[in-house]
Amino acid sequence: MKKIETGAARPETFPEQWPGQCEVFSHLEYACGIPSILYAVTTYKENGLGNVCCGAWASFPGDGGGFYALVPLPASTHTLANIRRTGEFCVNFLPVRHFDALMRTVRQNGMEDDEFTEGGFTPEPARTVGAPRIAESFLTLECRAERIEALSDSGRMMLVKGRVLNAVSAPDHAQGVDKRYGPEGFVLNINEPRNLLAHHSDAPSALATLHVEREYQ
Ligand SMILES: Cc1cc2nc3c(=O)[nH]c(=O)nc-3n(C[C@H](O)[C@H](O)[C@H](O)COP(=O)(O)O)c2cc1C
Repeated sequence: MKKIETGAARPETFPEQWPGQCEVFSHLEYACGIPSILYAVTTYKENGLGNVCCGAWASFPGDGGGFYALVPLPASTHTLANIRRTGEFCVNFLPVRHFDALMRTVRQNGMEDDEFTEGGFTPEPARTVGAPRIAESFLTLECRAERIEALSDSGRMMLVKGRVLNAVSAPDHAQGVDKRYGPEGFVLNINEPRNLLAHHSDAPSALATLHVEREYQ
């Protein structure tokens, strides 16, 4: 069967499923359907209340000079404003059973909302940065922002380069190939993957956890 090619310019056969869908994300994201790790960025609002912002677009590269969280954030988010102001943030990883709680923090995210309370999360102070951690996380990265730049010319998405100063692990998620790679571990977000064989398609999102196929050395 002939392979399907999708170019950098959105094809006419690729209508938006909701207004602005391909302004918020590239049509190529929906065409590719690449799953990515779900996390919650936590910061303090200017009034001292906790802010929780879930995302699934970051990557975590490093070398001998440092380990980094490369975190894209919509320019309009409170989180980006908080990071610009304080220069600090945490990236928290939670099991899939906390997903609905995370979504509550998306819906209830005004300046007067304590998003830890909205999500039923327990705040705890970070050791190296002025940002709250989510105690229910099995892994939290405490980060200092080193650079913030636009991802593309649209300016809609900003890329925050955060240097990881401290990684905080739950003991039962810190033992090699363990609970992190199963239903109690990392969650992958599958963002509205398009049916490329149908011009119009309902494209639900989905969540996945990992299933270890084998170990190797
Ligand atoms: C699975 C998932 C679903 C999301 N759903 C929404 C949404 O429905 N609306 C929205 O504006 N942002 C959504 N976001 C993006 C951010 O979580 C959201 O913009 C964030 O709550 C902004 O918070 P802040 O302004 O307090 O920083 C979603 C992110 C993920 C990972």
